Amino acid sequence: MDSIKRTDDFVFQTYLRQGKAFVRGEGTRLWDEDGKEYTDFLAGIAVCSLGHCHPKITEAISRQAAKLVHVSNLFYTLPQADLASRLCEKSFADRVFFANSGAEANEAAIKLARRYFQKKGEKQRYHIITMQQSFHGRTMATLSATGQDKIKDGFYPLLDGFLHVPFNDIDALEKRMDETVCAVMLEPVQGEGGIIPADKHYLKAVRELCNQRETLLIFDEIQCGMGRCGTLFAHQLYNVTPDIMTLAKALGNGLPIGAMLATEAAATGFDFGSHATTFGGTPLATAAALEVLNIISDTSFLAAVREKGLYFKSRLEALKTTHSRVVDVRGEGLLLGLEVDKDAGFFVGELMKKGFIINGIQDKVLRFAPPLIIETKEIDRLVSALDSLL
Ligand SMILES: Cc1ncc(COP(=O)(O)O)c(C=O)c1O
Repeated sequence: MDSIKRTDDFVFQTYLRQGKAFVRGEGTRLWDEDGKEYTDFLAGIAVCSLGHCHPKITEAISRQAAKLVHVSNLFYTLPQADLASRLCEKSFADRVFFANSGAEANEAAIKLARRYFQKKGEKQRYHIITMQQSFHGRTMATLSATGQDKIKDGFYPLLDGFLHVPFNDIDALEKRMDETVCAVMLEPVQGEGGIIPADKHYLKAVRELCNQRETLLIFDEIQCGMGRCGTLFAHQLYNVTPDIMTLAKALGNGLPIGAMLATEAAATGFDFGSHATTFGGTPLATAAALEVLNIISDTSFLAAVREKGLYFKSRLEALKTTHSRVVDVRGEGLLLGLEVDKDAGFFVGELMKKGFIINGIQDKVLRFAPPLIIETKEIDRLVSALDSLL
């Protein structure tokens, strides 16, 4: 109780918290300060994808913490080299810039896209087209990129140069494309916007359009990447590759790390001194992320995510056939959303009483983003609790 009161007294009141303080986590389970156990279907908002305190990650952190935590990017370290080369080996990318959060990774992507063209003398080419309902972060540039008005309130004027078009509408995108656009930026599966996957043909069409107009394509995979959708990167579900991709959240399984990955061609936008951050790619964070990447990129691990995701989705779809309050079921892999007619908050609160952690987005959508190690029997228990509430 003391931690709740002192947090409310001394921390900025910017988060609407759920009224619980947690003291321990293990795998898919969390315990609050009264000793009550919960099954976590949120994973710290798609962060602890290997579950809480995964022994291999704890070991990697402990080993590295006892050896070297930080030296700055004025020097080289082995964990950073290992993680960068491994990320490139596993993706379309040739180079990585390390940041500390999702918003920072997106800032880096925005800066890279602009500088890529400005370096070529195309000074007017600075617009970035993003999607309505998108979410890219809370810094001024990423807030400007975000396609949701409600979180921009009070912060105007925002950064110039962002155009928003409806998601999954190729005609709308084509209409906005002109010689002032340097990049199109989107989440292959929108997270905060309400768990909305891109249509299968849409991403291909976007790629083709970007190729025709020689515009950079940026995928924000901060929430939907790192195995969450059943492939290492969500765009692999669509057989489409971007020029730039951002990662964060699950990359560190809880240690703060972000990454902006790019092809060699796109990466030429940055030179020495173009961009920097003190903490980006510390030995501690990269050692943890390397271990995370090794575990998540395993093909059988990813196959299990796909299988459990399909199972979970089919159980949620079954709820839709029996309960009129369920409006829609959406998502890929283990990033799933169930839209109800109203008041997602009611379900979040009631499920918490029953020992399940989820959250609500856009007022009506229940988001499920459990640790990827979730078991089908845990999915069954959650679905039956939800069934009785509906
Ligand atoms: C798709 C997406 N992009 C960017 C961000 C911002 O990441 P961070 O909160 O680490 O700055 C988020 C966070 O929810 C996200 O879901």
